[in-house]
Amino acid sequence: YANVLSMKELSAEEVMDMIREAQQFKAGKEIQLKRPVYAANLFFESSTRTHTSFEVAERKLGLQVVNFDPSNSSVNKGETMSDTVKTFQALGVDVVAIRDRKNEYYNDLVNDPHIHLGIANGGDGSGEHPSQSLLDMMTIYEEFGHFDGLKVAIVGDLTHSRVARSNMEVLNKLGAEVYFDGPEKWFNNEFAEYGTWMPVDDLVEKVDVMMFLRVQHERLDASENSTFTASKYNAAYGLTAEREARMQDHAIIMHPAPVNRGVEIADELVECDRSRIFAQMANGVFIRMAIMASMLRYRGLIDED
Ligand code: CP
Repeated sequence: YANVLSMKELSAEEVMDMIREAQQFKAGKEIQLKRPVYAANLFFESSTRTHTSFEVAERKLGLQVVNFDPSNSSVNKGETMSDTVKTFQALGVDVVAIRDRKNEYYNDLVNDPHIHLGIANGGDGSGEHPSQSLLDMMTIYEEFGHFDGLKVAIVGDLTHSRVARSNMEVLNKLGAEVYFDGPEKWFNNEFAEYGTWMPVDDLVEKVDVMMFLRVQHERLDASENSTFTASKYNAAYGLTAEREARMQDHAIIMHPAPVNRGVEIADELVECDRSRIFAQMANGVFIRMAIMASMLRYRGLIDED
């Protein structure tokens, strides 16, 4: 692909192709590059997993990774994201992963005729998180071998969640049934189009996948944060030991992480047998290899012989 920006742009077949190539990378597949290829990860918003796993993925593909720390860059002198990207391009960078607080920040970049390097969206505000969504789909596919008719609950801070937006889109496309729960103030018609609202107490017995979302305190206002109580949230919308015990034997727990332990999920359940949270992170490397490989292939940089 020229860029990987949004799950809306990928068909069900293209999602499956991406998962299959990630599985091949997980099984040890390597690629040959036609020339030295350079990658940079431009994270204007905090990240541990996405930033690091893009970097590990790039290194596993044999790319040369160029460092960028926005807090010590000319962004501090007012340089725009667009000029920053053009600078990396001028220095010879072929592909970048970008995260920013602004929804759809990438439109300015892909509509600029002077920018032609490949852009992987590492998360745009509350918009989308396609690489997280693809690694989530890979993890679900590894578990169940299909999506058709699977019941997936997405529970928590829906309003602020780019993961929820990407996942509800792709799960609908792949034939899964989507359910939601969380504080009602964080639910609206945007979500109602993609799934069914149901209390978490009913969902734990009904679904195949319980996917919890982080409460994004950094995006809440001061009054929301001052009235927030972890134990009350966990009792109302989170995974408790009592709820986990009522899940079906085959059902799994997911969370994009970072987890607010004791809030979305009781501390002791984060690593429980049915948790796939760390498996999701591990799959993130292979999905990001597939994302980067798709952009290298589009640019004719992979020797396919
Ligand atoms: N899941 C996720 O995007 O984590 P980071 O914010 O640490 O990248």
